[in-house]
Amino acid sequence: RFYRAESSSNLMAYMDRGMLAEEENRWTFEIAWEAANKVGGIYTVIRSKAYVSTEEMGDQYCLIGPYKEASARTEVEESPLGSQSLNEAVSAIRDKGYKVVTGRWLVDGNPQIILMDVGSAAWKLDEFKTELWEKSSLGVPHLDVEANDAIIFGNMVADFLEEFHTSAKLCAGGGQPRIVAHFHEWQAGIGLMLTRLRHVNVATVFTTHATLLGRYLCAGNTDFYNNLATFSVDEEAGKRQIYHRYCIERAATHLSHTFTTVSDITGYEAEHLLKRKPDVITPNGLNVKKFSALHEFQNLHACSKEKIHEFVRGHFYGHYDFDLDKTLYFFIAGRYEFGNKGADIFIEALARLNHLLRNINSDITVVAFLIFPAKTNNFNVESLRGHAVTKSLRETINDIQTKIGKRMYEICLSGRMPDSKELLEKEEMVRLKRCIYSLGRDGLPPVTTHNVVDDWNDPVLCSVRRCNLFNRSNDRVKIVFHPEFLSSTNPLFGLDYEEFVRGCHLGVFPSYYEPWGYTPAECTVMGIPSITTNLSGFGCFMQEHIADPMSYGIYIVDRRFISLDDSINQLAQYMFDFARLNRRQRIIQRNRTERLSDMLDWRNLGVYYRQARMKALHALFPELEKEIENGIGCSIKYPRPISEPPSPTSSRHTTPATSLHGSDDESDSVDEEGELEELRNQR
Ligand code: UDP
Ligand code: G6P
Ligand code: GLC
Repeated sequence: RFYRAESSSNLMAYMDRGMLAEEENRWTFEIAWEAANKVGGIYTVIRSKAYVSTEEMGDQYCLIGPYKEASARTEVEESPLGSQSLNEAVSAIRDKGYKVVTGRWLVDGNPQIILMDVGSAAWKLDEFKTELWEKSSLGVPHLDVEANDAIIFGNMVADFLEEFHTSAKLCAGGGQPRIVAHFHEWQAGIGLMLTRLRHVNVATVFTTHATLLGRYLCAGNTDFYNNLATFSVDEEAGKRQIYHRYCIERAATHLSHTFTTVSDITGYEAEHLLKRKPDVITPNGLNVKKFSALHEFQNLHACSKEKIHEFVRGHFYGHYDFDLDKTLYFFIAGRYEFGNKGADIFIEALARLNHLLRNINSDITVVAFLIFPAKTNNFNVESLRGHAVTKSLRETINDIQTKIGKRMYEICLSGRMPDSKELLEKEEMVRLKRCIYSLGRDGLPPVTTHNVVDDWNDPVLCSVRRCNLFNRSNDRVKIVFHPEFLSSTNPLFGLDYEEFVRGCHLGVFPSYYEPWGYTPAECTVMGIPSITTNLSGFGCFMQEHIADPMSYGIYIVDRRFISLDDSINQLAQYMFDFARLNRRQRIIQRNRTERLSDMLDWRNLGVYYRQARMKALHALFPELEKEIENGIGCSIKYPRPISEPPSPTSSRHTTPATSLHGSDDESDSVDEEGELEELRNQR
């Protein structure tokens, strides 16, 4: 099911044809609420795919999203679009009074983008709702702002596509343009519905990245997968007051020429909850950038880890009684859907890991970061104070260090060896003592970095309290809840999310509801091992295509066929096994994990998007040959790593191999065969 596209000569032929898109009057529009508007994983889909999309279609490819001033200002360079027909269609809808911004998105591939300002057409909401009601009997409650926005956005998009069809036809001297409009998620669904209801000759694709009902049902403690076939969908949607949204999603699903979703597991869900089996599964890829030398990503890990160390020194001041060289960083991150993202079982498993490590008197410390945006009243004083006192100590030491250097230089110049007593002056000792005293603290290091609003009911904090994980000295597992996404301007970390991931040792994503799950995929391409589940699209995809995912640093927790308690034990055991690897083994494992990045590259996975578009075009233009409908290239499966080629020969030969067993040597080039054995014995 997975195809290595670049090995196929068919693809080259196809790309040649792709270059003919202009000649063939072939166009692709991709419409998503998250185009240049970051919310969650759909933004990552659109953004990371832009490079291959423009490579294939050039300026015949264009994104459409909502106009959000803050992100438009920083992410989009305003300019007219690259062709007459596009600009004419934009002018036509501007003439209707809509505010539309056009330009290029400043991401790899630099695609054209059209941003619709929903506010500028809000005055037509009643008219739009009337048309929707008359044509589809779909009514949307007045108070649902998100759904109202979806209606306005959908109308603007449908108007644009209608105008574009006319101008592209005119520009081609009357020939039919071959237009595919690819809509993502229910928020873009109205545009698809109207395009079909108005009989515009545009091929439509609808991709859902989750089902609304699935997300809600899972979040509500339902035994979801065992009851999928029996849910009374209308009733369940009604009970959750999302019936109208559900109707938009279901209508878009059924009206599309091609329906896709991101994984088999969500395909199965869609079949039952949306009542249509996807025509194509379109797994999510990434824009993978390979380093020319393997050790570069390992070096990046070491540099980013140093920055996390600095944070930890500040956060745990006064209780900094563990060795950072023997500290491992685990993390979970994503939208704050406590149960769906598996934060519940992560915390529970951390408590068990704490117990396991203490039982064997381990000298390893695990710092577990939980990064979920929650409502906060900014950073808490304790966190800020920790960073201030460590900063002050560092500055004092730097100053004293310079002075000692000068003194030493003078004394040596005079021709004698300095006596240690004359190097450090009394006043400097006093300064140092003052810094050390200010490092004292009464309480334990805080579990959270921010003041969380409604702290007492916050699900992470409640679980942490229940599990007694309070960052005590004898705890081998420490907790840091950072209730905000990371950015490089963050005063505590000073790291963006990517750098943070690189600096960690293990990503832990034990999701219960996860149609795909970009977070472990991103870890993989950065060469960071991760834990996922057999209920996540990514986990199932890896299980299907890799003979032994664990030896590549992809640990898959079973959340489907065993009890909840057994899943927690399995998760705790995976983390425990990982914590007992030595540095050399971790380095090997990172090398192996990184090798999987090819299979997550859009250059390979983009083929499914092409397939979906071709399928939709065939529905409108049956005369088109079924060129790539059945996929291209050959299906591949990743074997166990032992039969894989080892690390690049250059790095293996230039660094002499050292003793294998028990050593904590820092070299990145290690003998894999011997280490594999060692890894297996450990398990
Ligand atoms: N992410 C981020 N900053 C963070 C944590 C997560 O930018 O601090 C991004 C992450 O890179 C990923 C996306 O949020 O691309 C989450 O996507 P995923 O598919 O895992 O989950 P979703 O939120 O769509 O359910
Ligand atoms: C990378 C660096 C090494 C460093 C190692 C630390 O491989 O290239 O110089 O020693 O990371 O690995 P660890 O798993 O202990 O963070
Ligand atoms: C959704 C899903 C997530 C997926 C993302 C991109 O938000 O929750 O699992 O990775 O879409 O497809």
